[in-house]
Amino acid sequence: MDVIEAVTGRRSVGRLVEPAPGDGELLGLLERAMTAPDHGMLRPWRLVLVRGDARHALAPAFADTVDGTAEERARAAGKPLRAPLLVSIVFTPKPSPKVPEWEQLAATSAMIHTLGLLLHAQGWASIWRTGRVVESGSVRAALALEPAERLLGWLYVGTPDPAQRCAPRAAAAPEAYVSLLRSVGRVDPLVPLAGRR
Ligand SMILES: Cc1cc2nc3c(=O)[nH]c(=O)nc-3n(C[C@H](O)[C@H](O)[C@H](O)COP(=O)(O)O)c2cc1C
Repeated sequence: MDVIEAVTGRRSVGRLVEPAPGDGELLGLLERAMTAPDHGMLRPWRLVLVRGDARHALAPAFADTVDGTAEERARAAGKPLRAPLLVSIVFTPKPSPKVPEWEQLAATSAMIHTLGLLLHAQGWASIWRTGRVVESGSVRAALALEPAERLLGWLYVGTPDPAQRCAPRAAAAPEAYVSLLRSVGRVDPLVPLAGRR
């Protein structure tokens, strides 16, 4: 799969079933994902893999995000079971006179997206999920986070559920997000391009 095909074909897949990539395959992809741009090469992340029964360790935190009936809480508690592998994304910003924290967050995001693309290229599927649960004390305790660390959610990883249909991706209108500097303070829209590839 070439890079254009991988980028165009990747979708976030919400329903993921067994199998998931093993630790060895995941580490191989992670090594490549860690080639994403990382100012100062600070590697401001660590990943905690959650598989199998260990996913239940996260259940109380998910249940606690719901202030509702026992049934609603039970449904929320089942959320970590939506994929066979949860890659917990832990942001570990490093003190740096040169690289502010936002840049380290950007680098972490670039690495995670690259990992998602590589998984897709290998036939796996994933979705980055967040929500209020990332702030939960019980989830932080379950994952043994240090006070200065921040949970950025999970990359849920597995095999796409064949029963799930992915809606076609809506076409983007990139011109709406791009303008052209002509001179100081003068920024024009792009002239509509014919035959953009
Ligand atoms: C930082 C981040 C957090 C996300 N959190 C959620 C989430 O909590 N729940 C969810 O369904 N999707 C989440 N997503 C996935 C987006 O909803 C998804 O990428 C978007 O709908 C576009 O779909 P696509 O990836 O198939 O193009 C998140 C994506 C990112 C980058």
